[in-house]
Amino acid sequence: MPVITNVDDLKRIYQRRVPRMFYDYCESGSWTEQTFRENTSDFDQIRLRQRVALDMTGRSTAGQMIGQDVAMPVALAPVGLTGMQHADGEIKAARAAESFGVPFTLSTMSICSIEDVAENTSKPFWMQVYTLKDDDFMQRLFDRAKDAKCSAAVITVDLQLLGQRHKDLKNGLSAPPKLTVKSIADMMTKVQWGLGMLGTKRRFFGNIVGHAKGVKDPSSLGTWTAEAFDQALDWDRIRQFRKMWDGPLIIKGILDAEDAKQALNVGADAIIVSNHGGRQLDGALSAIKSLPAIMDAVGDKIEVHLDSGIRSGQDVLKALSMGAKGTYIGRAYIYGLGAMGEAGVTKSLELIQKELETTMGLCGVTSVDTLSRDNLLVPQGFEGNWQD
Ligand code: GLV
Repeated sequence: MPVITNVDDLKRIYQRRVPRMFYDYCESGSWTEQTFRENTSDFDQIRLRQRVALDMTGRSTAGQMIGQDVAMPVALAPVGLTGMQHADGEIKAARAAESFGVPFTLSTMSICSIEDVAENTSKPFWMQVYTLKDDDFMQRLFDRAKDAKCSAAVITVDLQLLGQRHKDLKNGLSAPPKLTVKSIADMMTKVQWGLGMLGTKRRFFGNIVGHAKGVKDPSSLGTWTAEAFDQALDWDRIRQFRKMWDGPLIIKGILDAEDAKQALNVGADAIIVSNHGGRQLDGALSAIKSLPAIMDAVGDKIEVHLDSGIRSGQDVLKALSMGAKGTYIGRAYIYGLGAMGEAGVTKSLELIQKELETTMGLCGVTSVDTLSRDNLLVPQGFEGNWQD
C-alpha cells in the first residue's frame, strides 16, 4: 500500500479503481469548468500569516455547526450517486462520518435510500432536499427524513435545472450504468468495484425509484431533473418547505448577498455559500471570493457555511478565518471512498484534520473559534471589483 499523505494521493487511487463514467461525474464542472477550477485556485491566492513563539499546545479542531458538536467544522457535503463510487457508498461514508464526529449529508440523488442509511448508522445525519414540483413527493421526503431522525434538512436552491457537464453526456451517465461495449470494457478493469456492486442490491436512485411519480427514465439524472425539478421555484415556495420541516434548516447554493438576505427572511438556520462545486453556472464567482460580501450582508444574523473548493485543512482554515462557521467537503471524501471505501473516507477526514491542526499551530492558534482574518494575508481587492 502506498504512503498516503494528502487527498491527491487518494484521488490517484480512486481514478484507477472506479469506472471512468463515475470518476468523470465527480471530477467535472459545467461547460468550460472555469468556476470549477477557480474554486480551488482562488484559495491559493490567500496566504497564511505565520506566527511564532506563541504557545500552540492543546490545539483543538472541535467546534459546532448549527449548534451540533463537531470534531472539526467540516461536514460531508451531499453528493449524488455516491453509491456508484463504491458499493453502498452513502452508508460507508455516513459510518465514517459518525465515527469521526462530523455531519454526513445524504443527497436526494443518493443510491442508498434515507431508510437504508438510517438503518445502518446510529447517529442522526443531515438530509439534503432537492426542490421538485411534486408536492406529495416533497412532503413525503421531509416526513421520511423526520422518521429517519435526520437532525437537519439542507435545501439546495441552485439546481432548478442541471448544469451541462460535457463528459456526463458523452459517457451516457446513468445509475446503474448502461451496458455498452465501452462501459463493459472499462468496468472489466475495475474488478474490486465490480465485485462490490455485484454484492449489493443498491444500484438505483434509492430515494426516487418507487417514490417519485411520472419519471420516465429514473436511471438518468438528466432526464429526471428535467422532468421533475421545479423551474418555477421562488422564495414563497421555499417558505412552504420551511413549513413542511420543523427541524433545523440549511439553505445551500447561495452566492449572492441579496439571495443570502432572502434565505435569512425565510427563517433558515444557516446558509451554505456554494456554487455546487462549479457544476452549475460556469462563469460564476468562486465560493471563497463570494464569501466576503455575504458575510458583510448577513454574517452577524445567520450562520454562514462554505462549500466548493475545499481540498485541504489549509483551505478549511482559510474559509473559517474569512468568517465561515463551517465547511463542506464533497470530492475530497469521494476520492477516499472510491479508493478504499469507508476506511478511505476516514483517511480523507484524518488528513484534513491533521492539516488543519498543524496549520493552526503554525499560525499560532489553538481553537477554531478564534480564527479570524488576522490569520490571513488576503490580497487587496480579492473578491474582485465588479460593476453593479
Ligand atoms: C447533483 O447534485 C450534481 O451536481 O450532479
